Amino acid sequence: MNGRTNRSTWRAALAAVAATALIATAAGGASESVCGTPGKRPCPLQHYMRTEVAAHLPVWWFDGDRSRGGKADKGPWKQLADGLAKVEAMNPQPGEWKHWASFSRKGAKAAREGDAGGVRSACRGCHKVYRRGYRRDYRTRKLPQ
Ligand code: HEC
Repeated sequence: MNGRTNRSTWRAALAAVAATALIATAAGGASESVCGTPGKRPCPLQHYMRTEVAAHLPVWWFDGDRSRGGKADKGPWKQLADGLAKVEAMNPQPGEWKHWASFSRKGAKAAREGDAGGVRSACRGCHKVYRRGYRRDYRTRKLPQ
């Protein structure tokens, strides 16, 4: 075994990997290698959605029981409302994505009123219309402060 050869081979391999990563970043591609895949940190909006939106849903939300949301379950879900309201400013292209703001506002209003159905349709609506495009083009984008 020649330790020196091994080490330099290893170093060359590392350099090659680093160079590949740089090229991928410069080309604006390979976002999935930066965040959001198993073992990587979550992407910025994905992290926000998990911690500032989904985390404030009432626990029964996850039962999938549509009969819930009645008087006993009523909000207001204030933190959920705040979390959703702030999503409005995270629209990556407000001029084009014209319904983003209203999904965010309607969701926040519904959360403030304890209206589970209204909240659900805001989540669904925005995800249906914008999630795919967001993940394709803006996934690594930093959130506005
Ligand atoms: C105005 C748009 C909008 C609204 C409203 C919205 N979302 Fe999202 N959400 C997104 C986008 C865009 C993504 C994709 C982010 C990514 O994967 O990088 C996302 C991703 C998520 C994720 C991350 C899933 C994962 O990959 O781990 C969760 C969880 C989530 N949303 C929950 C919710 C819930 C619950 C609601 C309603 C209470 C909601 N969202 C309302 C736009 C929205």
